[in-house]
Amino acid sequence: MANERHYSAADRLLLQADAALRTLLPFSGKPYRPSPAQSEPETQLDAGQARHVAGLMRVNHTGEVCAQALYQGQSLTARLPQVRGAMEQAANEEVDHLAWCEQRIRELDSRPSLLNPLFYGLSFGIGAAAGLISDRVSLGFVAATEDQVCKHLDDHLGQLPEEDRKSRAILEQMRIDERQHAATALEAGGLHFPAPVKFGMSLLSKVMTKTTYRI
Ligand SMILES: [Fe+2]
Ligand SMILES: [Fe+2]
Repeated sequence: MANERHYSAADRLLLQADAALRTLLPFSGKPYRPSPAQSEPETQLDAGQARHVAGLMRVNHTGEVCAQALYQGQSLTARLPQVRGAMEQAANEEVDHLAWCEQRIRELDSRPSLLNPLFYGLSFGIGAAAGLISDRVSLGFVAATEDQVCKHLDDHLGQLPEEDRKSRAILEQMRIDERQHAATALEAGGLHFPAPVKFGMSLLSKVMTKTTYRI
């Protein structure tokens, strides 16, 4: 504990505000790894296809906004330092996902969801509440969320035009990372959530996907 840093309440508030702004302001998150789309060729999508792909990538981007908020909320209330340690690499990879999705959305001449601040607030609250209950619940929540995200990614990979190799490369790498995040959270002691809780989470994620595809 001796080398753990201690922050005052005001410091913590500032750190949280900084993280929220870095998530919500355009082009403010710097990725740790270059986008997997970078090495893929651009394709000419027709207007309808481009709109659809932008909608899908907007949903994925909001999912990543939620991931940022969840990790931030959790880090505020998690008790065990090893929980933060275990999830730190995951949190860094979420920054990559966020930046990659945003970049792709812009390439498709679209913009991230206007509802992002709302979903950030919601997810932050859920993350903080889960962390208050216990670290195991909090990690279980991460694992269940990542499972949900993988389902979305599979669905979206099925819907992407075959020739859109850039969007595809991003979602494929994200899928690899999210699988690993779920496994890490469970290995760190995360609870396996019962089906009704998972069902509630999938309803919530349906609301998110339906709204952010358009707005
Ligand atoms: Fe992610
Ligand atoms: Fe993740």
